[in-house]
Amino acid sequence: MHGLPDAATYLKLTKNFMPLTHTNDLFAKALKGKYALGAFNVNNMEMTQAIIEACEEEKAPVMLQISRGARDYAHPVYLKKLIEAAVSLSTIPLAVHLDHGDTFDLCKQCIDEGFTSVMIDASHESFEKNVEICRKVVDYAHKHNCVVEGELGHLVGAQFDDGEEGGNYSAGGHYTQPEEAVQFVRQSGVDSLAVAIGNSHGAYKFKGEQHLDLERLKAIKRALLDSGLGDYPLVLHGASSVPKEYVLEINKYGGQLGEDTAGVPEADIEVARRVGCTKVNIDTDLRLAMTAAIRKFMAEKPKEFDPRKYLGPARKAVKDLVRHKVRNVLCCAGHAFD
Ligand code: G3H
Ligand code: 13P
Ligand code: ZN
Repeated sequence: MHGLPDAATYLKLTKNFMPLTHTNDLFAKALKGKYALGAFNVNNMEMTQAIIEACEEEKAPVMLQISRGARDYAHPVYLKKLIEAAVSLSTIPLAVHLDHGDTFDLCKQCIDEGFTSVMIDASHESFEKNVEICRKVVDYAHKHNCVVEGELGHLVGAQFDDGEEGGNYSAGGHYTQPEEAVQFVRQSGVDSLAVAIGNSHGAYKFKGEQHLDLERLKAIKRALLDSGLGDYPLVLHGASSVPKEYVLEINKYGGQLGEDTAGVPEADIEVARRVGCTKVNIDTDLRLAMTAAIRKFMAEKPKEFDPRKYLGPARKAVKDLVRHKVRNVLCCAGHAFD
């Protein structure tokens, strides 16, 4: 696809990233400090720079996460080199995570490449099959000092919304049951658990005043604690807030997003953080910030054609957003060197 050497061959020669901070270390400190780690998706240079610069300036530990789609888009070697650049130009603790790994082979590939954690998402399977698939990844990962995230329950709404107005909102889905969560963690051996509590991916999450089921989240955390699994790290996917100002800005400059959509209220994320969601996944808000800045630039400066002129403001918009999240929502700012 890229006309470049096969990534697996290349990465075999250059196995590990420059020193990363292990996901386990980040989790342990976050649990102790009662803050959440931002797990931000990276796909290109500007996104990576924006996240790293904001976190460096805010002294925030951070997780960069890479999806299969990101690997297909940018090529694993480009992403690896971008992250190596980030590591060498920053001082903050930084972990690299596979987001929504859908096969053992993809997880194995990322483990072999030196990722500090991988997600194996078999949440669409039966409980037993989910356990079996996770167990296989855990067995391999633990032999290679890698942390594994599993998911139990099925996120409501669209896993991948198609960008059309309307989306799927929070329809269907299957919420995580506290007792099942305990059994799942015990049987699969996963190190962290993504929960389904009314969260969903993309820009179309809620209509009106819907919120996350935070009582369920508390019950899951308590069940894990009571069963002897300790202060167990939970993961919140679909944690974008879909800020209205971005949606309106995008539409003002020619976009066609549905304006009656809402994301997760930031107040809900704060409660989730206090309850013990250690890793909070944010992608859509970054995309919205970037798109709003580019659309504005294109509309206001139609004669400009130097990509740096619009990618610069777009990078700045993402940086401002990440700064806000780590400082005011996740409260991990200032904890890089705890
Ligand atoms: O949950 C999905 C993440 O937002 C990554 O999305 O698969 O389009 O890269 P992607
Ligand atoms: P959002 O679509 O809400 O940003 O969620 C991202 C996510 O969960 C990535 O795994
Ligand atoms: Zn997700």
